[in-house]
This record gives sequence, C-alpha cells and structure tokens, in this order.
Amino acid sequence: MNIAILDFGSQYAQLIARRVRELHVYCELFPWDAPAEKVLALQPQGFILSGGPASVYEPGAPHLLPYVLDSRLPILGICYGMQALTQALGGKVNPSAHREYGSAIVEPLSPNPLTPVTSFQAWMSHGDRIETPPAGFTPLARSGSSPVAAMGDEGRRYYGVQFHPEVRHTPLGPEILRRFVIDICGVTPDWTPESIISQSINNIRQQVGGEKVLSAVSGGVDSSVATALVQKAVGDQLVAVFVDTGLMRQGEAAQVIGAFRGVLGAELIAVDAADEYFAALRGVTEPETKRRIIGEKFIRIFETQARALGQPKFLVQGTIYPDVVESAAPDRAKAARIKTHHNVGGLPEDMQFALVEPLRYLFKDEVRAVGEALGLPADLVWRQPFPGPGLAVRCLGEVTPERIARLQSADAIFTGELAAAGLLTLNPLSPTPSPEGIGDKGKGSSGEGTSQAFAVLLPVRSVGVMGDFRTYQETIALRAVTTDDFMTADWARLSHDLLARVANRIVNEVPGVNRVVYDITSKPPATIEWE
Ligand code: XMP
Repeated sequence: MNIAILDFGSQYAQLIARRVRELHVYCELFPWDAPAEKVLALQPQGFILSGGPASVYEPGAPHLLPYVLDSRLPILGICYGMQALTQALGGKVNPSAHREYGSAIVEPLSPNPLTPVTSFQAWMSHGDRIETPPAGFTPLARSGSSPVAAMGDEGRRYYGVQFHPEVRHTPLGPEILRRFVIDICGVTPDWTPESIISQSINNIRQQVGGEKVLSAVSGGVDSSVATALVQKAVGDQLVAVFVDTGLMRQGEAAQVIGAFRGVLGAELIAVDAADEYFAALRGVTEPETKRRIIGEKFIRIFETQARALGQPKFLVQGTIYPDVVESAAPDRAKAARIKTHHNVGGLPEDMQFALVEPLRYLFKDEVRAVGEALGLPADLVWRQPFPGPGLAVRCLGEVTPERIARLQSADAIFTGELAAAGLLTLNPLSPTPSPEGIGDKGKGSSGEGTSQAFAVLLPVRSVGVMGDFRTYQETIALRAVTTDDFMTADWARLSHDLLARVANRIVNEVPGVNRVVYDITSKPPATIEWE
C-alpha cells in the first residue's frame, strides 16, 4: 500500500513524503522523469506531484510523463504539479506576472472529498496559475489571487491544489493529504514501527544469509538503531565496532560502550584510537581537511578490524532517507550542500564491504520510533545530532588533546545546565522546561527547548583579569538553536540567567578559558556548526 511522489524540483518534496509517512503510509520520492518501470515497481495506489520552480510552457520544463495518466491511479498535483497536470490534460495555465507568496485564505466553491467545507488558511508560493481547468474538472476552491486554488475531477480521482498542504503554514494540510491518501486512494495505513521492524528483519536476513556482519557504532541515533535492527535480525552474526576517536563529548565513549554491551547485549569491540587521531590532526586547521582526515582514518581502522575478524562481507550503515534523496537530487540541491558529510558517498572507492542499510527508506522520526520499539534507551533515541567528525569541527584551529579536554569541560557545563532546565532533549514527551529557562521563543522552533546545543572552542585569545592577575586565554562560544529540519535554524532565546550561570561556571571551572560568548546568528546565513 504505497504512494509515489514525483518531484518536479520543489524545495518541499521531502516534506510531502514526511507528511504522507506521518499518516502511516509508505511512500517514495522519484524525480519527475524517473523511468516508469522504476516508479511502478513500487506498486503505488496513487501519485502526488510536487511543486517546482519552472513554468510549464518554458522549453524543457518538467512535465507529466504519459505512464502516470495511463496508470488510471488517483493523482494529486500540488502547485507546479497541478499546473503540469492541467497542461497534460489540455487545460490552460496562465503565466501570471503577479506572484502570490505567503499565507492566503482559501474559500470553498463546491463540496468535495478533498478540501474543507469552510474557509481555511493555506500557504501559497506561485507565479503561474490555472486559467482554465481541463475538461471534466470543477474548481473546488479559490483564493484572493487564484480563481482556481483547488480543482478536481471526482470520476477520474484527479485533484490539484495551488497551495502547499505539506507545510506547517497550512494548518489543515495534513487533513487534506489524509483525505487524498486514505479516502481517495484507499490506502490502508499500515506503515508502523512494528511493520517496519518485521519488514526490515526479513530484508536483512535475505540480504546477509549466514554471513558475518560488521557494524560501525558511533553512539548516534542512526547507527545505533541500524545496529539494533541488524542484531535483532541476525543475532551473533553481528559484530559492532566502536572507534573511540578521542573526539567524543565528555563521558560519551563509556556511555556508548555501556549501552551496547549492557542494554543490547551486543558483541562490541571498542577501539581506542584517540592517539592516532590526534597524531593525524596535528597542525591541521582547515575544516574540510579535518573532515577528510577523520573520515578516511575511520574507514582504515575499520578495514583493520575487519581483517582481524576474518573480513566480514557486510557492513551496517545508518544511512537514512533524507541522505539518499539529497545525494540523488539534481545539481541545484547538491550545490546547496555546504559541507561534506561522511554518511553517504564518503566511502573510498576501494571499500570492500557490501552495505546493509536498514534505515535507507526511513525519516528521522521513523528511526526514533523504531529505536523505541526495539527497546533502546530514551536518552540515546532522543539524542541531539552530533556531527560525524565529532568535536574536531567544534574545536576551531588545531585539534590537540588539551584543547579537546577544554572544550569537553565547557560543553559538559553548558549541556548539563540545559539538561537540568529540561531544555536539552528533542523528546516532545519530556517534562516541560522551567519558565526561567527560556525567554522569547525563536521563530522556526518546533517547541520549547533546543534542537541542538553545544560549546565551540575558538582559537581567539583575549585579555581578562582573574583575582589580581591578568589572563590571556581562549574563548568559548555557546551555540543553541531551534529548528524543525536542520536546514534552517534560529538561535534559541535562552534566558539571561541561564546564560550567566553557564558563563560564570565555564570561566571558573575550565582552565584556559576566560571569555564566553553566545552565538545569535540564524541559519542561514550562518550554519549550525562553526566548521
Ligand atoms: P550545519 O553546520 O551544516 O549542520 O548547519 C547541519 C546539521 O548537520 C550536522 N553536521 C554533520 N553531521 N557529519 C555529520 O554526520 C558532518 O560532517 C556534519 N557536519 C554538520 C550538524 O551537527 C547539524 O545537526
């Protein structure tokens, strides 16, 4: 029971997929021009056509391929998707000079199975609009600038909406998508953590047979859940390897080892590679060089372990669906990736494993739900993201054991204070934060608290005074953001009292630091990490 989403170049295409998955319905994203066989192999019960930046009459503009209509399955076109549907069925799209952008009130024109019967708020972002719907269609709703804000042909189960039901600024969007997917397409919502787990177990067993499987555990949510799934599927055919790079947060290495050995009862080899990493990073200050060195070293250590274990054929990777979609995205989206991430595509060509990627089709919230259903500890499942290269990208300038220890201490103070105020977790079910903890809520926030919070050590020394002595020491920057998707983020409006307490503790308790600053830039233009 699946839905196929065809991507016409929308920045919101992934969001459509997430919304459909939230309905417990499996869906996949395909480029608009993906081969028919590939899309139809999913056996979809319906199509959703995404928005996109083009104009349907432009030469070379993305268009609806004939197999979509030939399938006779229900179709929902969103924004450009609606215009592409209109063009394919002989209606007329008007290349309007007038852009409609932002919130609009959509008024119903005729009762129908898709859109609400009363006026509702919706998010618009389009130039072109429908002038004449194709034969067989009825206008279902209108807005100030769009005489046809929604249209439908009930007989053929074809629908189009000019607004974006997938974004939060369309509060009834999830209901509109539910009506299309569940009522109109008739899909049974059976995509649950339990069904994901049982399907994954089958797939993993089929893929690996009786072979040994190696897993790289980093302590992150994705690699932990992927490893737990594989362990559930193949038991002691799995050996997990944890490389302690020396670049983890304070106490984290011990915590990871405890969780895997103690909680999961997995066979875990812990490699203490801190000295090796520090040696490789000596004198290196350029961010991308740090990342490359760390990524390569990781793979080499793995290969050594693998050889010692008799060269298992398979390696578990915690690749998740957004990584896959972004790697496959057109150049436009690739160009928008500012930093090299090591999760996908970062493996050297001579890598000798076949990959087991049980999370390849899951969004992060699904990964967490699966992790919980597998019994992983909540603090692991709801952990804030931590970059693959670890503290190296938060230790600006040279990475030395002394500077990392300094950063770890400051970070532990900051995150400890946030945790005590209930502001560190992503878990919506966690206790509500104290009113003292947070001031005005930042825009873009998905709720109270921080989505990611950490300390950064700057190679900037400044003059201070401690007792009767002049000091000349380094600076800690505190970074705390709120975000829904980590693509954009706002700085968290932490209370002044909390910031004062953290700053005071850091300069008093962390040798080598005499100044603390708070980062008040949003992303964009800044990124969340400093390197
Ligand atoms: P930026 O700094 O680009 O970060 O705003 C967005 C999110 O990605 C995380 N991040 C990384 N994760 N490997 C990772 O696995 C990396 O190299 C890396 N760099 C950034 C960052 O922590 C934030 O959550």
